[in-house]
Amino acid sequence: MKKNCDQDQILSSSVQGSLLQYISAITCSLSVFDLRDNLNGICEKLLQKEFGVTSKVSFDIPSTPDRGDLTTSFALQLSKQLKVSPQELAKKFTSAIEKVDGVESCEVVGPGYINVRLTSDVLFKALEKVWERGESEKTRKKEAPVIVEYSDPNIAKPLGIHHILATVIGQSIANLHRHLGYNTIAINHIGDWGTQFGQLAVAHATWGTKPVKECSIDDLLALYVKFHEEMEKDKALEEEGREAFRKLEAGDKELQKFWKETVAITMKAMESIYERLHVSFDHVQGESFYQDKVGAVMDEGKKKGVFKEGEAGALIVTYPEESNLPPAVVVKGDGATLYMTRDLATVKYRLDTWKPQAILYVVDVAQQLYFKQVFAAVEQLQWDDSPLEHVVFGRMRFADKSMSTRKGNILKLEDVLDESVKRAHNLIDEKSSELEKAERDDLADMIGTGAVVYGILSQNRKMDIVFDWQKVLTFEGNSAPYLQYTHARGASVLRKADAEETPDFQSLVCKSITESERALIHQLLKFQDVLLLACRERMPHRLCNYLYELCQAYNAFYNADVILQAPEPLRTCRLALTSLSVRVLKTGADILTLRVPQRM
Ligand code: ARG
Repeated sequence: MKKNCDQDQILSSSVQGSLLQYISAITCSLSVFDLRDNLNGICEKLLQKEFGVTSKVSFDIPSTPDRGDLTTSFALQLSKQLKVSPQELAKKFTSAIEKVDGVESCEVVGPGYINVRLTSDVLFKALEKVWERGESEKTRKKEAPVIVEYSDPNIAKPLGIHHILATVIGQSIANLHRHLGYNTIAINHIGDWGTQFGQLAVAHATWGTKPVKECSIDDLLALYVKFHEEMEKDKALEEEGREAFRKLEAGDKELQKFWKETVAITMKAMESIYERLHVSFDHVQGESFYQDKVGAVMDEGKKKGVFKEGEAGALIVTYPEESNLPPAVVVKGDGATLYMTRDLATVKYRLDTWKPQAILYVVDVAQQLYFKQVFAAVEQLQWDDSPLEHVVFGRMRFADKSMSTRKGNILKLEDVLDESVKRAHNLIDEKSSELEKAERDDLADMIGTGAVVYGILSQNRKMDIVFDWQKVLTFEGNSAPYLQYTHARGASVLRKADAEETPDFQSLVCKSITESERALIHQLLKFQDVLLLACRERMPHRLCNYLYELCQAYNAFYNADVILQAPEPLRTCRLALTSLSVRVLKTGADILTLRVPQRM
């Protein structure tokens, strides 16, 4: 079969006859993907032969089925160069395309688009390939790893909204890579080192009412807030905090013990949040992990002349004028290390340990300048072709004013999740009152948590992210509840039909296809392309948009075409489409860390 499909072979023997004659000889069972490649090749060769131009042609699956199953606009792009009207140019290709096996019809529409309709056979066969992640998956496994760093909360400091965003965005980006076969390393670079520990130790010694071991995360937070309030009035406190941190860095036993306990308390609290959000890491390597690794990096930087003497004994990096970057301090005058010092040691450690093809830092926009300085310093140090990338995201705003007016940046994620679960419960009690209580509780948890997470992920991360209860908790629209509802709907159809999980698309016989079936098939066929795009761009919202459109296509199909009552072989075909839709929705939801229900 492969041999017959090889248009190169067919075309190369065309010397003896007309090209068209040989094109019509392609008779084999092709999928849309093979066919697409074939049509690209045929048009490219025709362009070469008839017009003497070498140009890439690409057929794509259109966004609406009224534009056929495959469409291309190359005639519009080349018409000027070839001095023919685009329509005229396009028309020269239709008869060749129409002769290809699997093509039902081909027409030129509008200013010069070529729209191709395929036979239902070809469309159904292609569905088998929705799961194939391509040849590249195998090679990806052998490639150098991709490191994704995200979450990065600070110990003994409040959890900021940006940490929540980093956590969910980072996890979905890591999941995307893993799903596509990349050797993926997820790292939580916790902020477990720095002056705040000195401050907390002073605060605890001064105002603490119980041993640190017995403190909750809220107690630690209260001490942190107290310290900063008092510091406003008494500047000497600041120096005390700094002195305590110096002692900690120098290895003071008592302070080390104190530090370890506060880290343990915060991480325990974080773990329960991670569990709720289905977040996990391969390594939790906080800033303290690099304490014994900064020395060597400092020596190297000095030796290479990258770190220079600055004011009052500090070590600094300066940048070329055209970069517009202000100088950065790497070591303070008193010898204390800084955030940047540890980040440089982190880069070195990761490059040496894993030789990664990429290191993605999923960190908020406030640190954009900082990462530019770090990356530029790495460049000066000439460590590899550093594969560093700041995956930036915007600020979170609240449609509900009462949420944004809370003091400072302190918004407790648990409170938001709890609120969302409560609201979801109310919705479910209205909608699914016939379900058992335990099942309704589980649904509320899945919908409430999913709504918050999806509400974040469905927005372009490069813009400000707006949180709006009306939008996240609706059963209509680009939301988690809509996705979950559609999944439950499809799953119910399969349950009622007792249908097999994995249909055999190769043997499906479905002679005609309705418009809603066609639209659904198109949407399913785009799945792999969307995953690759979302991964390449590190943009989870592309996957959300896709799943939203898939839900719309499935629901339109569900409303337009009878499934369970349809005569055979229609019934089997429609169940197969349902089964595939359900599986794609579930896979997409998994990547986004969402759970989906079997019924609602
Ligand atoms: N913990 C830091 C903060 O909350 C973010 C860490 C970002 N990652 C890094 N490698 N610097 O601000």
